[in-house]
Amino acid sequence: MPPGPLGLPWIGNRSQVPSFKPWIKFAEWNKEYGPVSSIMLGSTPTIILGKAQHAWDLLEKRSEIYSSRPRFVMASEILSEDRRGLMLPNSSDLWKQWRKMLHNGFHVRKAPVYHTIQSLESKVLLKQIMDDPKNFDGYMKRYAASVVTSVTYGRRVESVEEWVVKENMASMDCESALPTLPGKFLVESWPWLLNLPRSLQWFRKDPEERKKQDEHFLLYLLNDVRARSKNGTCHDCLTSQALANREEGKVVMTDLQLAYSVSSPFGAGIETTAGTLSVFTLAMLIFPEVLKKAQEEVDRVVGSERMPEFHDKDQLPYVTALINETLRWRPIPVLGGTAHASTADDEYQGKFIPKGSSVYANMYGIMRDEELFPSPDDFQPERFLPETKTTHPRINLKEFDLPFGFGRRICPGMHLALNSLFINVSRLLWAFDIKPVKDKDGKDIIPDSHAFTNRFNSRPLPFDCQFIVQNDRVRNMIEAEWENVRSQLDSWN
Ligand code: HEM
Repeated sequence: MPPGPLGLPWIGNRSQVPSFKPWIKFAEWNKEYGPVSSIMLGSTPTIILGKAQHAWDLLEKRSEIYSSRPRFVMASEILSEDRRGLMLPNSSDLWKQWRKMLHNGFHVRKAPVYHTIQSLESKVLLKQIMDDPKNFDGYMKRYAASVVTSVTYGRRVESVEEWVVKENMASMDCESALPTLPGKFLVESWPWLLNLPRSLQWFRKDPEERKKQDEHFLLYLLNDVRARSKNGTCHDCLTSQALANREEGKVVMTDLQLAYSVSSPFGAGIETTAGTLSVFTLAMLIFPEVLKKAQEEVDRVVGSERMPEFHDKDQLPYVTALINETLRWRPIPVLGGTAHASTADDEYQGKFIPKGSSVYANMYGIMRDEELFPSPDDFQPERFLPETKTTHPRINLKEFDLPFGFGRRICPGMHLALNSLFINVSRLLWAFDIKPVKDKDGKDIIPDSHAFTNRFNSRPLPFDCQFIVQNDRVRNMIEAEWENVRSQLDSWN
C-alpha cells in the first residue's frame, strides 16, 4: 500500500488522527510520506491524496471503481435508513435515480432557470448589508438558505430562524449527520458493535430520535409542494420536477425516499455557498489591492448607472478569476466533501490500493500544493487569467472545477453555486468598499486568515468588517430595487 505513518494493531492510525482539523494532519502526512499516502482507520484502508493530479487520475479517470462511498453506519444506516443519496454507494439504484434527479435539476443549461430568484435575493442581500453591515455574515447565510429552499421547494425564507431552515440545520448539525470526520464513531471502525443486543447499542438513541423528526418534516415539505403544484401556485423546483417525473414513471421512489432525495441541497448547498461569500469578504480585507482591481473592472464594464447582471459575466474576467481564487484560497469543504470508496483492488504508481478503501482528496492540502499554486497563501486571481503562464491546463477561468470534487461524484450544484457567487460578488464589489474596522488608535484590525471552524465544512470564524456604500447613486439604486423586488418576491413567499 502507499506509505504512511505506522499504526497500532487493531486500531491502526485511529488515535493519530486529531479531532481538531484532521485535514492539516493529512496535509502534513502527504508532505512526509508523499502525495498518495495511506493510513488504517480501524480495519478500513484509507488513502489520502494531496495533489490534484492523483485525484484526477484515480477519482476521475478510474471513476468506475472510485465512485462509491464508505459505509456510514451512523449517518446513513441508522439516521436515515439509507435514504440520503450523498452517502449511498454508486451501485445502489436509489443513488442512480437521485443523481439523475439532481443533474436534471441543476445542470449547466438548467441552472439559469434560477437566475431570477438568485438575482432578487442578491438585491435583498445588498439592502440588508447596506442597512445593517455588522451582520453581513448572517445575511449571506440567509441568502444561501433562501436560494436553496426556493430551488428545492419553490418557496423562499425571510430569515434563517424560519422552521424549515432550523429543522434542516438541526438535522445536519446532529452530530451523527456529519459523515466524514474520519475515525469519529467507534461503530464505523468496528461495525461488529451492531451485533450487540439492541439495548446495549448506546450510539443509536440520538440518531433514532432525530430520524423520527426528519421523516415528519421532510414529508411535510413534500406534501406542501404537492398541494401547491396541484393548484398551480408552485414555482418550478426540484421537488415539483421530481413529483412530475414520478407521475410519469421516470422515478420509482416511495414518498419518504423522494422527500429525503430532494432535501440534499440543504446539507450540501448552504454552508458551502455562504462560507465562500464569507471567505471572499475576508480576502478583500487582507488583499485590498485585489479589491481595487476588481472594482476597477466592474466600474469600467458596468458603471454606476445600473448594477451587474448575469449577462456581464464574460466581460468580467478578473471578477471570475477572483471567485476561482476564493474557492481555491480557503476551500470550505476542506476534506473534499465526503470520502469516495473503491469497489475493486487497484494498482497505482506501483502501489496496491485494496477494494473497500476510503479515499480522501484532501482539498485543504490540494489547494496549497505549491507546484500547482505557487505561494498558496497569497490571494492571486491572476493565476486564472489567460495571460498568466498556467502550470496546468485545468487551472484557468472556465474549467476550474477542482473545488467541486471529482468524477461521478462531482458536485451537482456547481453551476447553481457559481451563479450565486458571481451575482453576489460582482454586486458587492459594485456597491461597497469593503474595509477593516479600526481599533481605538485608528489602526486597521486585520482578521486572522487562518481562523476557521473545526467542521466538515470549515468556514471563517466571525470577524468584523465595514461595508461602505460607494456613493449616493448606488444607495438610491439599492433602495429603488428593493421596492421593486418586494412585490416580485410575493409569489415566492
Ligand atoms: C461554493 C459552493 C459549493 C462547493 C464549494 C461545493 C463543493 C462540493 C464538493 C467538494 C463535493 C464533493 C464531491 C466529491 O465527492 O467528489 C460536493 C458534493 C455535493 N454537492 Fe456541492 N458544493 C457547493 C454548493 C452546492 C450546492 C448549491 C448544491 C445543491 C444545490 C450542492 C450539492 C451537492 C451534492 C448533492 C453533493 C453530493 C454528490 C454525491 O454524493 O454524488 N453543492 N460539493
